[in-house]
Amino acid sequence: MAERSTIPHLLNLQDLSEQEVDDLLDLSMRIKRRAGAFQLTGRTVGLLFFRPSLRTRASFEAAVNQLGGEAIHLTASSDFWELESQDGAVMDGRAPEHVKDAARVLSRYVSALAIRPALVGQSWAADRRDASIRAWAQHAQVPVINMESALWHPLQALADLMTLRESLGKLPGKTLSVVWTRSPQPASHAAVHSLLLAALRSGMRVRVAHPSGYELDEQVMAEARALADAKGGALEAGLGVKEAVKGAHVVYARSWSSLEDYGNATLAASRVARTQGWIVDEALMKLGADARLMHAGPVRRNLEVTDDVLDGARSLVYEQAENRLHSQKALLARLLRA
Ligand code: CP
Repeated sequence: MAERSTIPHLLNLQDLSEQEVDDLLDLSMRIKRRAGAFQLTGRTVGLLFFRPSLRTRASFEAAVNQLGGEAIHLTASSDFWELESQDGAVMDGRAPEHVKDAARVLSRYVSALAIRPALVGQSWAADRRDASIRAWAQHAQVPVINMESALWHPLQALADLMTLRESLGKLPGKTLSVVWTRSPQPASHAAVHSLLLAALRSGMRVRVAHPSGYELDEQVMAEARALADAKGGALEAGLGVKEAVKGAHVVYARSWSSLEDYGNATLAASRVARTQGWIVDEALMKLGADARLMHAGPVRRNLEVTDDVLDGARSLVYEQAENRLHSQKALLARLLRA
C-alpha cells in the first residue's frame, strides 16, 4: 500500500492501486452491513490536528473506538509543542521541537498517526508541496494517514467513491459535476483534487464548473486529463454551472479559493464578492438526470446549497458523512492488518 516504502503510509488515494481501492470499498460495504469482523484491541491510533475538523476527527475516533482500539487526539497549539520541519534547521526560533523527534517519539506509543497538517496559506507553490505531512511520513516509524493536506484528502475521496457506488452502481460512463460554490472562507482544494482523480480512475465523466480565476491546480489537472484518456472517461473544466449540471447523475458542491489570489485575503474577498449565482438550488438540480447532491462538509446553507436541496430526497450528504466511518474502519484494518 502507498508509496511502496516499507511503511504503508496513505498520503494520497492514488498511492493505492485500483485493486487496493476496490478491495477497500468492498470491505467498507461489508462493514456497513456489519459483516466485517476484525478488532483493533490493544492498538492505539494518534490523531493530530493542526486545523479544525468535525467529520474527520469524530469519524476517525469513533472508528478506532468501535473496533476496540484507542484513539488519542492532539490539537496543535494546545496539546503539543510548536514544531520545526526544516531539515538541518538551527532551532533558535519559536519551535522547541522538530517534527523528526515528535514523529519518532509518537511512533513508540501508537500503531498509526493520522494527521491534518497546517496550511501556511502564503504561497500555493509552497503549500502544494505538502511538506509537513511528507516530513511526518519521512520520520514516523508507523503508518501516517493524511487527514487533509493542501493537495489531497484521501479519506474523503474514499468515502465519496463508496457513496457514488452505493448511489449509482457501476461508475464508468456516469457523469459527476463538480460545482464551485461561494464561501467567505473557502475550503481547501484537497477534497476536489482527490475526488477528480478517484472518479476519473473509476471511468466517470467529470465536469468542473467554476468562475474564471478559480482553476484547479495545473499539475493535478494534467494528471486528471491523462486519467480521463487512459480510462475512457472524460474531463471538462471551466464550464458554466448550468452547462455542467445538464444531464449529470451527481452534483458535487464545494467551495475553494482562487489560486491566483492565494495568500492575499483582500484580493480573494473582492474576487468572491464579484461572483454571483454560484449556488446549488432546486432549479439547478432539475437540470440533472435525477441528480443526487454531494458535499463533503462543512456546508454553508443557503450560500453554497439551499435548504430544500440539502434536506431533500436527492441529498446524499449524510450518507457521505456516514461513509467516512465505514471506509476509515476498512482502511485501518488494511493498514494495521487487523
Ligand atoms: N469533510 C471533512 O473533512 O470535514 P471536516 O473538515 O469537518 O473534518
